[in-house]
Amino acid sequence: MQDTRPVEHVARAPWWRDAVVYQVYLRSFADGNGDGVGDFAGLRARLPYLAELGVDAVWVTPHYVSGGADGGYDVIDYTAVDPEYGTVEDVRGLIEDAHALGLRVLLDIVPNHTSDQHPWFQAALADPDSPEAARYHFRPASEEPPNNWQSMFGGPAWSRTPDGRWYLHLFTPQQPDLNWDDASVVADFDRTLRFWFDLGVDGFRVDVAYGLFKDPSYRDNPGIYSPTLFGHGPEQAMTTNQPQVHEIWRRWRALCDSYDEPKMLVGEVSLADLDEVGRYARPDELHHAFQFRLLKSDWDASSFADTIAEALTAFETVGAPAPWVLGNHDKARQVTRYGSERRARAAALLMLALPGSAYLYAGEELGLPEADVPDAARRDPIFFRSHGRRPGRDGCRIPMPWEATDPNAGFSTATPWLPQPADWPAYAVDQQESDLTATLTLYRQAIMLRKLHPALGSGLAAVTLDGNVIRVDLVARTGDPGPITCWINMGAAPVTVPAGHVLLASAPDQPGPSGGRLTLSGDTAVWATSL
Ligand code: NOJ
Repeated sequence: MQDTRPVEHVARAPWWRDAVVYQVYLRSFADGNGDGVGDFAGLRARLPYLAELGVDAVWVTPHYVSGGADGGYDVIDYTAVDPEYGTVEDVRGLIEDAHALGLRVLLDIVPNHTSDQHPWFQAALADPDSPEAARYHFRPASEEPPNNWQSMFGGPAWSRTPDGRWYLHLFTPQQPDLNWDDASVVADFDRTLRFWFDLGVDGFRVDVAYGLFKDPSYRDNPGIYSPTLFGHGPEQAMTTNQPQVHEIWRRWRALCDSYDEPKMLVGEVSLADLDEVGRYARPDELHHAFQFRLLKSDWDASSFADTIAEALTAFETVGAPAPWVLGNHDKARQVTRYGSERRARAAALLMLALPGSAYLYAGEELGLPEADVPDAARRDPIFFRSHGRRPGRDGCRIPMPWEATDPNAGFSTATPWLPQPADWPAYAVDQQESDLTATLTLYRQAIMLRKLHPALGSGLAAVTLDGNVIRVDLVARTGDPGPITCWINMGAAPVTVPAGHVLLASAPDQPGPSGGRLTLSGDTAVWATSL
């Protein structure tokens, strides 16, 4: 008898093109060993929750032995796990369990800088003529810093060594920048990538992927600028987006492609110009390049619509999928930024409809708000380096609530490393699981529908703006089944739109359509069959 099953390997797009990736802030996800800090054992135990949510992959924030100056983004040993989080064997176990559940695992790699406690930097401090000193950016002793470069966390990007030299750090002084013109830096990161890939890791999120190289003559950055983590423009031309960085991404892509099951890379490309961001996702470079303009947009239909249309064009130009991000561990939570959980739910439906991949930050699916953190409990260096002028990122890094009546909402048997607000148990997973109107339920339904309907998340999109309403028409690339429209009303007043059958609405009070017309409530999104 003839085998009529479809030949899957011919038709199937690579998994990452339209993946929903769940970002786990490791310290805050789940604590398995009762010390108040999230870890691999905790994450492993909660993998079934992620499988049920329906995501395709988990990205875990840095897990390496670290100096602890910037939430793990100051690495001392790139091939070891910080004992706070577990062991390399725990990572292997996590990968095995995740794969058994159909989930992929991405780790976070930090190539722009090390910790100041990294053995290379220590050797460089001890001997200015050591080979290790050539792996960083040192400048000779002088009264003034070598140039006007500023740290993204506030203050100058240069600090002095005990012997008077200057060294470069685009972030905290405990994060000296590596010199990527040094061949041993390049070779060492190849080894690190292979180490984790050989363990079974499916890919990496690449920190500061727009950085790595700096102006070789250390010229001043032009003009006066205000450094932030998102959206660097020409004012930071000497410290970001140097052309040589693309050679590294080609090198890393080739390494990824050398595996039978190719590995994937998603880079943090915080550049303001979306065409520039797109260049990082050319076919032989990074698989995904994060653009953060949507993340930075206020609740404003025209800014959302412009950004979506521009990002779609920028990525289509290079044949790459657009990665969408509404929240992460560096930005205040959506509920608080947009002003209500209702709006955050509408935004989620919009994001999950758009073609490309969607990155979902842990806790957004619970509708968590940004937490107030007492100054005495704060940890983020941004707060301290800005002398309290910038609140920092602790409020979006509060440990997850799992079970409402358990100690510390089920996160840990010990006091969590950042305090959970008193109302955290109300958001717990077990409170939302059986509630049809809960935000968790909305996310589960949306991710399931996205998988079922080829127009959602991977089709072709046309974006139209009319006042406060954005209409995104989505057509499956296969042309079958019919098109879907995602409508979002970002105004407060209801509007009437044409709609067939409603597949999903972000607001529980959204009335159904009648005679091909739908009265779309304020701050609401729907997925509906198109008319
Ligand atoms: C971007 C990361 O997302 C952020 O958390 C970190 O502080 C900086 N890069 C420096 O590594």
